[in-house]
Amino acid sequence: MINNKSVMITGAAGFIGSHLTETLLKHNNFLVLIDNFNDYYPGKEEQLQKILNKYEENRKYKLIKANIVEKSTFNTINNEIDYIFHLAAQAGVRYSIDNASEVTYNNIVGAVNVFEYASKMPSIKKVIYASSSSVYGNPLYTPVDEDHPKNPISPYAVSKLCGENYANLYFKENDLPVTSLRFYTVYGPRGRPDMAVKKFFSHMLQNKEILIYGDGTQKRDFTYITDIIDGLILAGENDKSNGEIINIGGSNPISVNELVSKMYGIAKVEKKISFIEKQKGDVNITHSDISKARRILNFKPKVNIDVGLEKQYEWQLSFLKST
Ligand SMILES: NC(=O)c1ccc[n+]([C@@H]2O[C@H](COP(=O)([O-])OP(=O)(O)OC[C@H]3O[C@@H](n4cnc5c(N)ncnc54)[C@H](O)[C@@H]3O)[C@@H](O)[C@H]2O)c1
Repeated sequence: MINNKSVMITGAAGFIGSHLTETLLKHNNFLVLIDNFNDYYPGKEEQLQKILNKYEENRKYKLIKANIVEKSTFNTINNEIDYIFHLAAQAGVRYSIDNASEVTYNNIVGAVNVFEYASKMPSIKKVIYASSSSVYGNPLYTPVDEDHPKNPISPYAVSKLCGENYANLYFKENDLPVTSLRFYTVYGPRGRPDMAVKKFFSHMLQNKEILIYGDGTQKRDFTYITDIIDGLILAGENDKSNGEIINIGGSNPISVNELVSKMYGIAKVEKKISFIEKQKGDVNITHSDISKARRILNFKPKVNIDVGLEKQYEWQLSFLKST
């Protein structure tokens, strides 16, 4: 665990960033939190503030509302930083199809600015770059290891792959200790509303129909948020992973139809399902080979899909009751 260190998190108000913020605050770290609270979905600023309020007495964070594509954002930080978790990005495969230039600029320039800043910070021990399983495109074989060909089929996936290439460049040319982690479909409390698990439970709870893209046979390697946080921290404190790219996934894919059936089993409401046209950019299957994560990071996913879905459902139910 990373304790009593100085840590920067970009995208701190997002789904994954807010969980990482909470975990690292619990372990007495000083955090520099950067987020521009983009309008991709609402509620992030309040969500982060709720977490920070719990730590107000012993205030060990600095919250910077700024855009990382602006180099000047980094001039406002005068703390020495040990670790950087670079999570800020315009997420969403489907959104990127209609907003290719925005996603490209935001994700690539943002990553370059973070690597540039980190490479000039003498105290840096590690930078973690959040990449994505989407870089593989439709797999030629499964499970997919890190050497599998990269055939991204959306601007989002290309931007994530490009960020990895920059990470590699800064590792080789500037000795930056950086690791790229390829996350697989993350779900759990505070999950993004554009993602299937959050969206489907939300519709079930409102007795609304759920819409499945394609025929629902596409499979996803759903990964519970606490397993992703474990992967981030294990990679952060691990020197052997410098310059490496590592899959972080649950490694146990299920089809969207199976997912929906499990979710109806939990929500216990009347089934209302429609199938609509497959979305551009969606791949047929994601399935992580996590041997490298096991070997280098000692990473083991701990939360299976049944337990994870129960936890997410409980959270969505309590969220609904509190609003
Ligand atoms: N959630 C997943 O399933 C998943 C899978 C693979 C990879 N990832 C990657 O993990 C990271 C976090 O994803 P998430 O699901 O938490 O997304 P999210 O949208 O919830 O969080 C991203 C955060 O980054 C912020 N942000 C975006 N651009 C910024 C900029 N230019 N300057 C400052 N802040 C900016 C947003 O306001 C948001 O709070 C992203 O890099 C994403 O590409 C996520």
